[in-house]
Amino acid sequence: MRKLIAGNWKMHPASASAAGALAHDILAGGPDAGADWLVCPPFPFLGAVAAALAGGGVALGAQDCAAHESGAHTGQVSAQMLADMGCTHVIVGHSERRAIGEDDAAVRAKAAQALAAGLTPIICVGEDAGARAAGRAQDVVGAQIAGSLPPGGEVVVAYEPVWAIGTGAAATPQDIADMHGFIRARTGLAALYGGSVKPDNAAGILALDDVGGVLVGGAALDAGAFLAIGGAA
Ligand code: PGA
Repeated sequence: MRKLIAGNWKMHPASASAAGALAHDILAGGPDAGADWLVCPPFPFLGAVAAALAGGGVALGAQDCAAHESGAHTGQVSAQMLADMGCTHVIVGHSERRAIGEDDAAVRAKAAQALAAGLTPIICVGEDAGARAAGRAQDVVGAQIAGSLPPGGEVVVAYEPVWAIGTGAAATPQDIADMHGFIRARTGLAALYGGSVKPDNAAGILALDDVGGVLVGGAALDAGAFLAIGGAA
């Protein structure tokens, strides 16, 4: 199975020129042809990154989209606009957005808008530390899957346990294998794993059968680290 190596740049870097340079460095570093590659910069830098990636083997995505097709939604960006900018994917329901009030219904509506615009939504799910400690991780993820996936259409699911994001403490391969097996049983999909993926743990994670790739935050801002993660696929 070809694995998807996706970078979530979050609210980085600080300028369009730095974003273009990072994209350029990733391409220049020779992304491993055995994997699929994607970077998701902030909205204002999509144009600069699209230009830097032109003709290369790295796809462009965004980090969110509106739950509406168009209209009076100040500050929102539609899936159609992202498609027009050259995006093929959009992340929806990241835990950093769920934490500021985005619920399953909103995530599902965003994913549906993405599909309608011809984009592949990357739908994020994942339990917090309290749910895991209470033995409820699969209950939480199962409910998010039931509530966040639109009917029909080709989607990607990303399992990102909240306690592993940005902490340096990735889930263990066993925990990942268990949850990805559960997600595969529910959806038929090999989910991406995200949460403190680094060059030194990527091979063990990407070797798992039910892992379709990785969604990388911090390490995706370093071209060398990002390329090394994908090289482990
Ligand atoms: P991280 O972030 O790799 O910095 O833990 C992952 C994510 O939030 O997508």
